[in-house]
Formats: sequence, C-alpha cells, structure tokens
Amino acid sequence: MNAPVDAPIARRRLLTTAGAGLAAATLTPALPARAELAADPFRLGVASGDPDATSVVLWTRLAPAPTDASTSFGMRGQGEVPVTLRVATSAARLAEERTCLRVETHTAVQSEGYSVHALVEGLQPRTRYYYQFLAGGHASPVGETRTLPAPGSLTPVRFAVINCQNLVEGRAELHFTAMTDLARHHDVDFVVHLGDYIYEFGRAAHLPPEPVTNLVGYRTRYGQYKQRESLRELHRRFPVFAVPDDHEFFNDVRGGNLGARPVRWNAALRVYWENLPFRNRPEQDAGGRFWMRLHQRVRWADTLDLFLTDIRQHEGADGLLGAAQQAELLEFLDTSDARFTAIGTQSPMSSWAGRGGMWRSHPGVRRQVTDRLLARKQADPRGFNPVVLAGDLHCGMVTHVQADPDDVASTPVATEFVNAAMTSGSATNWEQVLAAGDGGPGFLAAYGYTDGGGWNQYNGLTVHTVTGTSWTTTYHLTNQIRDPQGGMSGTRTWMLRHGARVGSVRSTG
Ligand SMILES: [Fe+2]
Repeated sequence: MNAPVDAPIARRRLLTTAGAGLAAATLTPALPARAELAADPFRLGVASGDPDATSVVLWTRLAPAPTDASTSFGMRGQGEVPVTLRVATSAARLAEERTCLRVETHTAVQSEGYSVHALVEGLQPRTRYYYQFLAGGHASPVGETRTLPAPGSLTPVRFAVINCQNLVEGRAELHFTAMTDLARHHDVDFVVHLGDYIYEFGRAAHLPPEPVTNLVGYRTRYGQYKQRESLRELHRRFPVFAVPDDHEFFNDVRGGNLGARPVRWNAALRVYWENLPFRNRPEQDAGGRFWMRLHQRVRWADTLDLFLTDIRQHEGADGLLGAAQQAELLEFLDTSDARFTAIGTQSPMSSWAGRGGMWRSHPGVRRQVTDRLLARKQADPRGFNPVVLAGDLHCGMVTHVQADPDDVASTPVATEFVNAAMTSGSATNWEQVLAAGDGGPGFLAAYGYTDGGGWNQYNGLTVHTVTGTSWTTTYHLTNQIRDPQGGMSGTRTWMLRHGARVGSVRSTG
C-alpha cells in the first residue's frame, strides 16, 4: 500500500560511495540487488538535472508497471530496493565497474515512489558524463549529461525552453512532436522547463480518467506521461532545470493562500519531486505543509545569468514570489554581470489586449523589477542586456516588457520571448486579438494556437543560443501534434545583439 499522504519523506540513504579519482582497484564493490524484479523497473527512464560546474543530480524511479497503482506500480510493496548507479566518461566505460568513475548504491523506498535522486559531486566543468542504473537484475537506458562551465570565459550556450505538455484531448492523444525533434536532431546544453509538466485534470484518454488529487493519482499520471518515448528521450539526453506552473498541482493554484496542511498540494509537490531530477527536496513545515526551494539561478560562464522564478508556490497574500524569492530576484538584477541577464518565468511580464498575466496582477513587484531593468540599462547601455523568457500563454510571442504595461509609449525594459506550448491549446482567440492590433505595447510577432481553426496552429518550443556578442532565439514550430509520426512545420528566428538598445530585436528568418 502507499504511504499516507503526509508521511515524512525518508532521507536519502547512500550505502556505499566510491569517491572520484580513486584507483579502480580500490572501488568498493556495489551491493548486489537483493531481489530480482520480474519486469523491467526502468520503464520511466532516467534523467539528469540541476547541474552546476562540478555536480549534477542523476534520477530514476522504479516502476515495472507505471500506471498500475494496485501493485504499487509493479513494486508490490517492497519497502526498500537497492539501486546501483554507474557514472563514466563514455557509454562504453559503463560496461564494467573498473572503468567507471563512480559506482554507488542508493536505496529506492516506497514512501518516495521508489525514486532515486543521486547528487554526484566532484565532477569537471563543461564535461559530458554517461550514467546507468542497475536494479533487480535489470539495467536502465544509458543517460548522458553535462556540467556547466566555470566562470571566467565567454563559452557560448544553447538551451531549449519547454512548457505546457497536454497529453490528451478528450479520447485522442496529443504528441510531443517538437520534443521528439529536439531529442533526435538537435543538441542543447540543457533544457529549461517552465511548467505544466503534467496536467492534472481528467479526460477520457487520461490515466486515471478523472482529475488526480492524491499520491496514487499523481503517480499514475506521471507514469502515463513518462511512458512517452519523447519525454524519456529528452531526459535521457539533456540535463533539465524545472520550475512548475499551476497544473503540476491544480488549475490556477495560488500557493500563498493554501493554509496549513493542504492535502492535495502536498501530494502534488511530493510526486513532482519524485519524478524530476531535483537537487532540493520537499520539506514539511510545522503546520504540515510541504515546501520546496524551486526558484534558482543558472550561471553559464560569463555569458548568461538566468534566474528561474517559482510563482505558484508563493503567489497570494505575500505577493507574487514571496518575500525571500523577491529579495533574491532584485539582488540578482542589481548584481548580475554576465553578457546577458535573463529571467525565466511562468507568466509573461508583457501585456497584450489590455491584459496581462500574473505579473500585471502584482504591480508592486513588477514595478520593482522594471525599475531595476531600466536603471541598469541606463547606467550601462552596452554592458547590460536583459531578456525575459515566459511560458503559460499557449501562444509564442516576440514582444517587450514595457516599464508601464498600459503605456505603449513607455520605455521597453526587456525583450520578451513567450514560448510556444508543447501541445496545449488556448481558449483565447489570438487571431482576433492580434487582428485587432491588440498585441500590446512592444509586440512584434505571434506563433500561436487557436481552437478556432484556420489560423497558424502552431505548437513547439524555443531554442536559445547565447554568445558573448548575441542572443538568438529560434521558435521550432509544428502543426502536427495529433500525428504520432508528425514532423516539424518550420522555424522562425530572432536575434538581439549584445550592447544594442532594448527594442532592437530583429527577425532573421
Ligand atoms: Fe499551460
């Protein structure tokens, strides 16, 4: 049976660790997996995440039957299962322990959904590593990952941004066409996931077909998602930095207003953690609510400084971000000295059609952010280069964050790239909005989806290439998300030069 909803999460237990740099002969042999598992427990794949210059988190979750809650997902109530992790500098070196850089045994426990989050430290900067998990007589797919470069260079970076992965539409499946294309045909240094990794509501083709509200339900839904080869391949190939939007929990959740011991929230947060390669973990406060530090700063050499916000855990009476995160974001904007300074956030900071997202609903913090962006650009017009990356809208947009969201004539303070949704549609008729000239101040282009049909029904993702001299964003677009063999429709690319004024981003094809 599954653990009660609010049971404490067991501490990660590391049974043996072979340290970096030890001669092969001194490696502690990994503990053999005690219990044989009849079926492959690695059907959810492997993942890596939250890399820095010297460490990365490697993940798997044992689930021989990913959507069968009645057998605890095929683990049949085993309390603890040893899982061996091998890390090496090439895939071939994983085959034998003596050629591995690390051999560690971790313990997957029932109360954590049999997930493993292995923090591997002591790695080299800007280096590719390969890894594999072994358990119950089975071996996982071979994952690859890479560390970030150390400060002190202008190493270029290429990364993808993904959000809004709706799995089904009624009885029909939707396909992550752009994700498959990315994993098969492109190379990126990391992936940023800006939220709606799952949708919690229930449609006929969902497992379960009703909205998920508890540990078993959320685990089942992630099990259904991770049986998609596109998602497993994405995680197998690239490290990810993930921050949630609302549907990891439930529609329009405002985490700042939940009160004590919110049962559904706690289940959702714990299962989100179980299924992604996070460095941090959920902790329960005195009132019985789970929290997890999710906002973070990604520093890529001297090229890119990226702050990823976490709105959903905090929005409510204590503002948009909560006091601590807000202070960190403002400090980041005051001090960031990379060639490009970026904010990745769930909801756009720009406005359109007289409306705007969650930032507009919190004008106090929005103003503090835009004041800083304006002041930094005025103080150092060539050196300070701000970009905002946003999700949520289900319509890709190239636009600008204006100092005053209601005033077209106010100063643009950052270029904003709103991401295309992976598969999700929009109730907004963007065709009408844009035809009416209501793209909002600073609006340049839209790549969107409308249920109305006949318009440019595009989904997809963005890939961002940042160097010491420019920021280039490419929208990878598809209108073939209903076809499991669907391909891409095309790309649209925009470029911003380092040192140029805000507002000067240009289409390059
Ligand atoms: Fe969404």
